[in-house]
Amino acid sequence: MGEKWKTGVSHVEPNRIVIRGHEIADLLGKVSFSQALFLLWTGKLPSQQVGRLMDAVMIGAMDHGASPPSVIAARTVASTGAPLNASMAAGLLALDKFHGAAIEDCMRVLDGIVAEVRDAGTPLPAAVGSYLQGLKQRKGRAPGFGHRMHTKDPRVDAIFTLAGDCEIAGKHIEAARELERQISAGAGRPLPINIDGCIAAVFCEIGFPLELSNALFRLCRLSGITAQAHEERLRQKPMRKIDAGAFEYDGPLPGK
Ligand SMILES: CC(C)(COP(=O)(O)OP(=O)(O)OC[C@H]1O[C@@H](n2cnc3c(N)ncnc32)[C@H](O)[C@@H]1OP(=O)(O)O)[C@@H](O)C(=O)NCCC(=O)NCCS
Repeated sequence: MGEKWKTGVSHVEPNRIVIRGHEIADLLGKVSFSQALFLLWTGKLPSQQVGRLMDAVMIGAMDHGASPPSVIAARTVASTGAPLNASMAAGLLALDKFHGAAIEDCMRVLDGIVAEVRDAGTPLPAAVGSYLQGLKQRKGRAPGFGHRMHTKDPRVDAIFTLAGDCEIAGKHIEAARELERQISAGAGRPLPINIDGCIAAVFCEIGFPLELSNALFRLCRLSGITAQAHEERLRQKPMRKIDAGAFEYDGPLPGK
């Protein structure tokens, strides 16, 4: 037999499970799910403060109503009588750069701006201005900004405030805010930081690997997609024609 291939993610032997060097029993009940996920994906166990912020990000990414394309895809598959895992897969495949997977691109943009400020001494407004000028010439859209519904995304302030409380807010969050200010001023209407942009700024601050950033969003949003597909199976007729705009929320609202 030739040389064995190597893996450093986890080690399992009879009566023993080790995740990235930690006995599983030392993690259970002692770290949050998001800390364990960070450990599993990167090999580093983050601080409780980072875990708290990641928890907030992961909750913020869970669900955004019945109309996003990923939910319509999942509900459409559910309406055929397909099993729940088929709906989950369909929803997952519908998350990409315009819907839920703009985080990695936004992290690259923020990293570039912060590097220019740090290395070339360019003032932040000028670094942001020159990025936006290039974007305009390419007729591109800034990843992490703009929203179909919100002019001010309710998740963003809460997450950035928590980042401040956790002493994690830094240059990337500042850069995201300046981008929001200048894009909106240029458009003459709010083009707010969206959840992808918010997560991108936070992930840059905590050193989350950018290649895994969209995967984290997809993992979280899969929980909402699952809830929506399950409800479709419970409440709707098979093979209905789904109109993405013609629905009404009949669940509880806070304070009612
Ligand atoms: C999220 C998004 C798809 C919403 O799109 P939308 O509903 O068509 O947006 P609006 O109707 O408010 O605005 C459309 C116009 O605003 C401008 N605009 C919208 N988002 C912009 C952005 N991020 N950067 C620059 N200009 C933008 C464009 O001029 C666009 O005009 P166009 O269709 O001629 O290109 C869009 O803002 C976008 O592509 N954002 C970047 C990708 C992203 O962050 N995706 C993750 C979403 S959570």
